[in-house]
Amino acid sequence: MKPLLSSDLHARSEHNPSKPKLMFFGDPHGDLEPVIAAVEHFQPEAIILLGYIQPRRPLHIALGPILSLTEVWFIHGNHDTDSDADYDNLWGSELAARNLHGRIVEIAGFKVAGLGGIFRSKIWDPRRPIEEAAFQSNDAMCRTMKCEELWRDGISRKHRSSIFPADYQQLLRSGHSDILVTHEAPAAHQHGWRPIDELAEALGVQLVVHGHHHRCIDYVGEGLMTTAAPFRAFGVDMGSHLAWPRDESGPGGPLQGLLDLATQVFGAAAQAWLDKPHELLNGQTPATFAAAGGSDKVRSMLNAIQHGGIV
Ligand SMILES: [Fe+2]
Repeated sequence: MKPLLSSDLHARSEHNPSKPKLMFFGDPHGDLEPVIAAVEHFQPEAIILLGYIQPRRPLHIALGPILSLTEVWFIHGNHDTDSDADYDNLWGSELAARNLHGRIVEIAGFKVAGLGGIFRSKIWDPRRPIEEAAFQSNDAMCRTMKCEELWRDGISRKHRSSIFPADYQQLLRSGHSDILVTHEAPAAHQHGWRPIDELAEALGVQLVVHGHHHRCIDYVGEGLMTTAAPFRAFGVDMGSHLAWPRDESGPGGPLQGLLDLATQVFGAAAQAWLDKPHELLNGQTPATFAAAGGSDKVRSMLNAIQHGGIV
């Protein structure tokens, strides 16, 4: 795989290649052990959870073992409002202020924009113009509700994970950003939405990373987008992560790139695959073979597995 970002973004991300600047984690579904294990192993500067977090305890307690190791940020997903416990363990956590929804924050040297939640047609059907949304904002919806319909003096818990036009437009007008994290997918996904692309293009981001669909997706690698597209896009599965930047040009870079590719293919089992002797590599492990100069062969094996070839 080729280096993914333009030179200016690389220039601002000088770092020890063995320690990623940023790591993005797919929907944990309440299981934060893979997040903790990956942070302890890779020690990234910061991490971003892509929604559907549902911590079983308040988030700052569930991630307590790594709070001194990395900076934690997140966006919420649709299921983070499924129950009072799901809601309270996120929005009631001491990490609640780390929700990136509707704003841009500088994290590990990158400007990161966040759009949590999902499109719900009762609020805004993203196939329709934004002006035609049923409710432009949380407040506008609240004003139409009867007292007995309110939840904690506001809109229903469910719609606190819906995307409102006002939040979207506020972010759209927030200036330049390097990276956009969303729960919903961009339009190239079969269940993605054009407003995500329009937001990414308005912000001028070079990278979009999303959760929600529970599959690792390299949009260019799968032919869903071309390298001529204005931004690169990745989906991240539950239990998996994406490290950024994916720098394959510096010392140690190719091995990090292989780990990223293996993660796209095998998810949480990536490191185990790299460490297991393989008969096509004369009995060596892919990690050892790559370190000895054979990274191209290991990469071609991973590409073949990813795209249905025989290895
Ligand atoms: Fe989701």
